[in-house]
Amino acid sequence: MKVTIVGAGNVGATCADVISYRGIASEVVLLDIKEGFAEGKAMDIMQCATTTVFNTKVSGSTNDYSKTAGSDVVVITSGIPRKPGMTREELIGINAGIVKSVAENVLTHSPNAIIVVVSNPMDTMTYLTLKATGLPKNRVIGMGGALDSSRFKYFLSQALQKPGNDVQGMVIGGHGDTTMIPLTRLASYNGSPVSNFLSQEELDKVAASTMVGGATLTGLLGTSAWYAPGASVAYLVDSILNDQKRMIPCSVMLEGEYGQNDICIGVPCIIGKNGVEEIVDVQLNDTEKALFAKSADAVRNMNADLKA
Ligand code: NAI
Repeated sequence: MKVTIVGAGNVGATCADVISYRGIASEVVLLDIKEGFAEGKAMDIMQCATTTVFNTKVSGSTNDYSKTAGSDVVVITSGIPRKPGMTREELIGINAGIVKSVAENVLTHSPNAIIVVVSNPMDTMTYLTLKATGLPKNRVIGMGGALDSSRFKYFLSQALQKPGNDVQGMVIGGHGDTTMIPLTRLASYNGSPVSNFLSQEELDKVAASTMVGGATLTGLLGTSAWYAPGASVAYLVDSILNDQKRMIPCSVMLEGEYGQNDICIGVPCIIGKNGVEEIVDVQLNDTEKALFAKSADAVRNMNADLKA
């Protein structure tokens, strides 16, 4: 199974690293526009093969898309990351041009690939990719909910003072500080609602920390994060390549689901060998439905900037 990752920067290279040492794919091609950069990252990762012990073949390419031919999955992380104080929305103009040309290039060499979009603003970039390529909606998946959910589970586990593996939780809606919706009502610890252990005030604090989770790291690091984003992409790629059928919140095209049409936004999906196998209808209450509608409005507003 072959994966191409376009953009060998922080997120792309971390994703390649996790895919290799976890043996998720047999081959990974890193591609970047910066001369020699992808080759260097690939060589560095390959030099771990005998110590972290893996068999995945990782190679790099400077903008030569013929090396990506026959990929089963293509991950798009190319673009510029958010700088401190910069909103995801401000990234739109620059990243739209990059993502569109990358999607067209990869499909020339891998016409059957499933595309995973990571570049921000991710919901809008996913929508753009779908529209620009004309691919069926099961083959274009935006990654954001997996990361936001992993941050949500982290903050829940901190509040509960319990290991993260025993915590379940999901973030839906747009992949933005003000648009994501951590579903505290449905979160659980060892099968019991987290509200059995945490007060409403504590849950609100967890939700607020989750929503600024990316911005907090950007403030600390001076650029956006990469370990959890890279691992979240690898988790999603694993579910596709190895047909895991995991339920992962992903940004996908809605046609009536959750009361929305013609928009890519985060909803729980079953992810398997065909990409989006199913959109899961989690029964939202009225408050959550209203938040989702508001989030969709915000994403739709951003999509409108694509046409400007
Ligand atoms: P980075 O700057 O470390 O890496 C981006 C790479 O893309 C660079 O190496 C650059 O040379 C390359 N690139 C730019 N234009 C290209 C082109 N036309 N063709 C090929 N390569 C090109 O950035 P980082 O931190 O890896 O973030 C990448 C993107 O992912 C950003 O848009 C960032 O905002 C987004 N992101 C999304 C997340 C999500 O949950 N959806 C989480 C974290 C980051």
